[in-house]
This record gives sequence, structure tokens and C-alpha cells, in this order.
Amino acid sequence: MLRRILLHASTTRRLPTGHVNPPSSSPLLHTRPLSSSFSSSSSSQIPHSPFVEHLEDNPDQTTIKPSTTISIDRSGLCNPPEHSHEPCSDSELVKHLKGIIKFRGGPISVAEYMEEVLTNPKAGFYMNRDVFGLGGDFITSPEVSQMFGEMVGVWAMSLWEQMGQPGRVNLVELGPGRGTLMADLLRGASKFKNFTESLHIHMVECSPTLQKLQHQTLKCVDEEVMADMADKRTVSTLAKTPVSWHATMDQVPSGLPSIIIAHEFYDALPVHQFQRASRGWCEKMVDVLEDSKFRFVLSSQPTPATLYLAKRCKWAGMEEIAKLDHVEVCPTAMELTQSIADRIASDGGGALIIDYGLNGVVSDSLQAIRKHKFVDILDDPGSADLSAYVDFASIRHSAEEASGDVSVHGPITQSQFLGSLGINFRVEALLQNCAEEQFESLRSGYWQLVGEGEAPFWEGPDEQVPIGMGTRYLAMAIVNKKQGVPVPF
Ligand SMILES: C[S@@+](CC[C@H](N)C(=O)[O-])C[C@H]1O[C@@H](n2cnc3c(N)ncnc32)[C@H](O)[C@@H]1O
Repeated sequence: MLRRILLHASTTRRLPTGHVNPPSSSPLLHTRPLSSSFSSSSSSQIPHSPFVEHLEDNPDQTTIKPSTTISIDRSGLCNPPEHSHEPCSDSELVKHLKGIIKFRGGPISVAEYMEEVLTNPKAGFYMNRDVFGLGGDFITSPEVSQMFGEMVGVWAMSLWEQMGQPGRVNLVELGPGRGTLMADLLRGASKFKNFTESLHIHMVECSPTLQKLQHQTLKCVDEEVMADMADKRTVSTLAKTPVSWHATMDQVPSGLPSIIIAHEFYDALPVHQFQRASRGWCEKMVDVLEDSKFRFVLSSQPTPATLYLAKRCKWAGMEEIAKLDHVEVCPTAMELTQSIADRIASDGGGALIIDYGLNGVVSDSLQAIRKHKFVDILDDPGSADLSAYVDFASIRHSAEEASGDVSVHGPITQSQFLGSLGINFRVEALLQNCAEEQFESLRSGYWQLVGEGEAPFWEGPDEQVPIGMGTRYLAMAIVNKKQGVPVPF
């Protein structure tokens, strides 16, 4: 039922956005619903051994089902299809993926597939276009309502106060999309000059196209550092704050306290998928068939990512793993969290992670969305968004393992997070001052951010009913222990 409602929501809603000033961009809420089974975690024990074993040959097997015997059919790789003069309709990315599989002489991991599909420099999903909004593939909370970015701004200012109001701070956003969250944060905070004057904004974005869009959204201008020098810096005119762009977080200069925001960033990080088979846990891989279609197969040998599966299983409980036939692990998320924790431990500050996910092991959540509809993960790669549920328990363990000087708080629901920061007061104030035509969009946007299920007040067409995401999205904070417990955890 939930899946039906959410699928419905992601495909058919056409709601005006709640950005009051300036008018907004896009109406559909980005939803990436549960695709399969999930579980939550508790104590620590490794599941029965071994993690990966060889499976019997069964060349007829083409689809993967839990607990069945599956083999890798490499015949198509050993005997390349006959040369043909038919025009090839494969996209550049499909050719590239097939090339990797062919030249490597075997299938690639789901994580490698996901990484190429999303961020391949030439043809990755995010690299060359604006994927957000009605004309794109999905919409996210910052695009639904200005209140989202404003509330994140309240969180950042509270943390800055707890940090002792440092005069210079790196405000880092990971995966800023169109830059809407940061723009709303800066507009909302612009009256608090001590805060905004302390900031240097760092946008961590791999997509050159989205970097340009963020530059526009933040209303950036290039200004000379000194009148007689050629040295320039980019400044957002929204709060007169310097802005820099980086492809990875490691490129953000260290040495200053940092406030790091990651909204719907972790869900785009590549996951490895494992499946329980008759002889143990095997990694799910992507291969090509002789007729050139991608398909899933199971690895016949242990893969490097098995180490991360072992690590994840150690953090989980025997009971938790015993229930599962599939497990997803995200080494990139573990490593990113470790570097966030290291930075916060040495420089001070904190990180806020908001995403949809679970406080436990994620089973089988990877999904593809194109033009607001679910599609096959292997269909026309690069033309659909791929995302996976975030394993918040794994983030907690990664941060705590990285440094004893940081503390981890949450996850709490987005509804609790935004409610405690005062979104109710904010929506009341906006409703009192808005034009009549903005009233419904504000109310809908508010419901989408903090509500659960279908909006009870809705009187419009059924297919446009606003769906609340307040309990499906979770918020977690990692902070330097010296600063105490961050608001509102
Ligand atoms: C799902 S979108 C979220 C956008 C934005 N945070 C929002 O909520 O509207 C993911 C963002 O992360 C960026 N991204 C994805 N993978 C990345 C990577 N490995 N390195 C840097 N940026 C990445 C994408 O280009 C995009 O801006």
C-alpha cells in the first residue's frame, strides 16, 4: 500500500511549490520508495560462513532469485558476437559499460555500474543536465519549499553558536543539486551578519552542469580580491559570502571549523549488493548477455567488497542478518563518513545528514527513477536516477570507529527535526503574509516535509494529493564532542 501511494505520488502529482519569495521552481516531490525488504540492527555477530562461495554451473539461469543456484554465463564474453554492419543503437554509456565488462573479461559490481551510471564524466546521469523538477526526473525537499533550507540554516546557526561563534567557518554542502537549499539558507540567515560574515561556502559537486546552475541560484559574482590585483573570488550576493566549488570533499581546504550538510547525497553513493545463495553470500554483479542486454549474475568467487560485507555484518546482530537474503553495503559512505569524522575531530564543527534510509542493515533497496516513474535498473543506463536507502547505523559505526572525539546523534525523523527547529512557526508566519494563490502550495509543501501519508486537508483531485515524507526521511548529526549535544537531537 505504501509503495502504491508513494509510486503514485512520485509519478502523478502536480503541486505548486511552496517557495514564497522568489517564486519556485518545481512541483513534484522526489520520492524513492522502498523497493523490497529491509531490517534494523542491534548487537554484533558475523553470519554463518562463508560470505561468498562458488555456485554450480547453470547456464540457463538468467534471473536472480533468493536462495537459488546461479552461475555466471561467460560464453558471450569468450565468443564475441559475430561482426555486424547493423547500426548500433547503444548509447555512449552503454558502449562504455559493455567495454569495461568485455575487457575485464567478466561482470562488474553493482557499485561500479551505479558509479558509472551516475557520475561517468561524459555521460553520467548527473553530469550534463538538470535532472530536478517537473521537466526532470524527480524533486527533492529543498525544491518543495523554502522552509527546508531555512530550517537547515537554523540548525547551522545553532551549531555555530555551540561552536563558540568562530570568526571563520567552512560551510560545506555535499551534492547541492540546483543549489536551492544553500540559497534558502543564506536568504534566511542574511540578517544574522556575524554568522554569514564568518562563512566560506564550499559546494562539493561532481557535475559541471549543476555547478553552473548552483552559481546562478546563489546569484554569484566574481569580484577582485584587491583593486589592483588580478586575483578574483566568487561571492554569493545573497549574503555576500565567498563560494568555492570542488569535485570531492577531500579538496575542501582543512584547518577551519566546518559545518557540513549532506541532503540526499548519501543515497547517490554506489552500493554493493550481496545475495544469500545455497553456499553462502555472493556479490550480485552486472554482466552482458550475448544479445547485448545487461543482466544480473552472482559472483562465483569472493570479491574485494566482501571485506565490507564482513565489517557490516560484525556491526549487525546475528538475528538481523539471519532474516535477510540480501544485504547492501556502501564502502564509499563508510569512507566518506570517516573523513567527515576526522575533519570534525581535528577542525571542530559538525555534519548534518538527511536522507531516506534505515537505522540498520539495508537489504535490497536500489531503484531507478526516470521522468518520475520507476524503471528497470539495467534499462538504458544514464537516463534514470539510481539511488539506494542509506544505512544510518553504518554511518554511526564508521564515525565512531574513525574518531573518539566525535559524537553521533540520531537518526530522528525529518518531521521531528524540522518540528523542533520551528517549522510550525515559520509556516504560520509565511501563511499570514502570503498571497492567496500561495496559500495552498505552502500548506502542501509543509505537509510534504513533515506529514505522513496523504494530506487529510486535501480537497483537490485524488491523483494530486500531497504525500508526507516526514517519517521516511531521517536526520543524523556528527559533531565534535567539545561542543556538546547539537540542537535538536
Ligand atoms: C539526489 S541529488 C540531491 C541534490 C540536493 N542535495 C537536493 O536535495 O536537492 C544528488 C546530488 O549529489 C551530486 N553527486 C552525486 N554523486 C556525487 C559524487 N560522487 N560526488 C559529488 N557530487 C555527487 C549530484 O550531482 C547531485 O547534485
